Amino acid sequence: YLNYHVPRTRREILEILLKGLRRLEYRGYDSADDKSANAKSIQLIKQRGKVKVLDEEINKQQDIDLDVEFDVHLGIAHTRWATHGEPSPVNSHPHRSDKNNEFIVIHNGIITNYKDLRKFLESKGYEFESETDTETIAKLVKYMYDNRENDDINFATLVERVTQQLEGAFALVFKSVHYPGEAVGTRRGSPLLMGVRSDHKLSADQIPVLYRSCMKMGCNSLPRLDQDTCLFPVDEKAVEYYFASDASAVIEHTNRVIFLEDDDVAAVMEGRLSIHRIKRRAGDYPARAIQTLQMELQQIMKGNYSSFMQKEIFEQPESVVNTMRGRVNFDNNTVTLGGLKDHIKEIQRCRRLIVIACGTSYHAGVATRQVLEELTELPVMVELASDFLDRNTPVFRDDVCFFISQSGETADSLMALRYCKKRGALTVGITNTVGSSISRETDCGVHINAGPEIGVASTKAYTSQFVALIMFALLMCDDRISIQPRRREIIQGLRVLPDLIKEVLSLDDEIQKLATELYQQKSVLIMGRGYHYATCLEGALKIKEITYMHSEGILAGELKHGPLALVDKLMPVIMIIMRDHTYTKCQNALQQVVARQGRPILICDRDDHETIKNSSRTIKVPHCVDCLQGILSVIPLQLLSFHLAVLRGYDVFFYKNVVKAVSVV
Ligand code: F6R
Repeated sequence: YLNYHVPRTRREILEILLKGLRRLEYRGYDSADDKSANAKSIQLIKQRGKVKVLDEEINKQQDIDLDVEFDVHLGIAHTRWATHGEPSPVNSHPHRSDKNNEFIVIHNGIITNYKDLRKFLESKGYEFESETDTETIAKLVKYMYDNRENDDINFATLVERVTQQLEGAFALVFKSVHYPGEAVGTRRGSPLLMGVRSDHKLSADQIPVLYRSCMKMGCNSLPRLDQDTCLFPVDEKAVEYYFASDASAVIEHTNRVIFLEDDDVAAVMEGRLSIHRIKRRAGDYPARAIQTLQMELQQIMKGNYSSFMQKEIFEQPESVVNTMRGRVNFDNNTVTLGGLKDHIKEIQRCRRLIVIACGTSYHAGVATRQVLEELTELPVMVELASDFLDRNTPVFRDDVCFFISQSGETADSLMALRYCKKRGALTVGITNTVGSSISRETDCGVHINAGPEIGVASTKAYTSQFVALIMFALLMCDDRISIQPRRREIIQGLRVLPDLIKEVLSLDDEIQKLATELYQQKSVLIMGRGYHYATCLEGALKIKEITYMHSEGILAGELKHGPLALVDKLMPVIMIIMRDHTYTKCQNALQQVVARQGRPILICDRDDHETIKNSSRTIKVPHCVDCLQGILSVIPLQLLSFHLAVLRGYDVFFYKNVVKAVSVV
């Protein structure tokens, strides 16, 4: 955060930084730290744990005057998810070049060549205090500064030289006593945006963002900017700048943001912003548009719910409507997806569809694979991004590759995207974050419009991804006469889906009761097949990641090939049995479990009196068209995992070793 000729007290500055950290806590919370300093000296405060621990630590500091006012000031704060070095104050960011804090840096990402850099810097006499990869950057910038050829090297150029030595992924923000009142940020592979706030509107002829590379080339035209939203002061003096990994950290101060691209170096100097491209190709005059975000703060607040996860589970009747809004016409059974309209013909001609994602987003691919195959009549591969890359999977120009990602920043998915692009495939993004790397780098896509998902465990994004993929499948077959009755059945299923989701949510008390029976168990198995295999995987993932119980999703067809050995009268087993084409086979699986003295809990169709009659423990969900039923079968498991976590005493917002956006590989 940098204020320029806007008087702010230290207390106000710290509050802006801490609030931003609280909003970003879902990305990491092993340790948080904060640096708030005037130009000539830099003070560091670090703490392990949640942001509130840092807040308490700041308030304990005797020698910090919170009421002192600054006219120009730069403060940096960071919350970390450990990649190198355990969570501890010393490993927390910012990292510094030396005991005098000459250069300070914060970093999101991983530097893969840090060991070589560290060895080099140690050979030059630098002493390291942490185990992190980031500290090498802080030392490297000082080394470059001390060994500069010309005295008037500017901060941005210095940072640019540093980044040329770095391998891996990073978003970085630097500050230095040698460049008072200046801040430099840059990124490669990890997200970084800038928020801008000013009280002054500019006329169109004031150059709002200065592209040095563009100017150097003698290019006279203005960068392409949205003049309506342009608020950059050149001569004006009241301005504040924010660097952040995510818009939620800045949204309460400004909704004007610039999403930086890889290899951008953004420098704020004397209240002016310049963005420079490190690797500009000939003829490439990049311009960064200032976007006005529509995100409301209340959208990211948790309202009356005890946690974001619970709020997001209960938001699903609305979030699926938002996914379909303006896209599905229930009266004439049509689907329009603006983001695909220029590419749909090409997609219809492709050789195969490859759906690539991680975690829950991958499960959305598994859940919709069958209906994609049915309606597109194309081979569909569903791949985990990391494995897809490990295998060097062959990809061809006539493949269409889908990248599903809530955050749009998951490093494995992003790398897989670049891999497919290089091989000439058409790339399609299914994301929930406008302006995210995946949404920008794909050729076309669908924004799922589920609203910000803050809970670390993904819930509403899953059901919206599910709906988005179904809409795509429907669009692919809209001119095939023979398939129209099926299309209509599915579209009418989408029409009633929000109400059916509400009915499932009304089972909450019943599910909470079930959780009280299960929460002391060590393990839970979840079995199903066909459309509900993905529900088993997703339910098990939810349970393990937020309750720390062991849980396994098992394809019921595989039961007799090994997993049956786990079943006995003590092992909790949840089975999903719905009235679809796998019904008889699921009944067989149920018999096998009962024969082993298992006492399964069934998630079944509420009209399936046969199954209900034969079981003492059932969660009865409403019936809908087969390929959408997976949305109704997963919600009881989302609720169950939530209640299990609460009963086991876990804070549903702070999980060990799990973060919201995994922007490291
Ligand atoms: C689980 C969960 C993760 C994510 C995965 C991919 O609840 O949230 O498994 O689904 O890290 O993240 P995105 O969808 O942001 O690419």
